[in-house]
Amino acid sequence: MEKTFLMVKPDGVQRGLVAEIMGRFERRGFQLVAAKLLQVSQEQAERHYEEHHGKPFYDNLIKFITSGPVFAMVWEGDDIITLSRTMIGKTNAAEAQPGTIRGDFAASTRLNLIHGSDSPESAEREIANYFSPDELVVYTKTIQNWIYTG
Ligand code: GTP
Ligand code: MG
Repeated sequence: MEKTFLMVKPDGVQRGLVAEIMGRFERRGFQLVAAKLLQVSQEQAERHYEEHHGKPFYDNLIKFITSGPVFAMVWEGDDIITLSRTMIGKTNAAEAQPGTIRGDFAASTRLNLIHGSDSPESAEREIANYFSPDELVVYTKTIQNWIYTG
């Protein structure tokens, strides 16, 4: 099954939205694989946003993501990368639809509450940037049969 890296950003932690955001992924039927509260280091931030290096908003991005604790998670599910990006909503605040996390709670493109991997390659790279392999918990939830097969 596919894995993705999701992270409640410092604004989401400060605003007390961790449980609300986690709850949406739980209710959708995804399986939690790992989770922890942490302070992103400068090096982790630079690795995380290396694709944006040199862009006008890069410095602010690094400053923001290291500005307070984040809640980092690994989740698993069929096609979870695409489905979770849909649940997160568009990057541009003006285009984030109601019903999405950003569309329901974020009013700014910069303070946009949550990160989600955008491809299997970024998911693998991002998971490794925040978690060691032994932190990823392997287990079975019998409810999966009621979500994916039936
Ligand atoms: P992340 O989950 O943070 O990776 O967001 P994303 O995948 O929806 O967007 P993307 O990876 O393209 O951009 C990373 C972050 O840079 C976004 O979350 C925004 O905060 C910021 N960003 C992206 N594009 C712009 C832009 O045009 N202007 C500004 N100010 N910020 C931007
Ligand atoms: Mg991105």
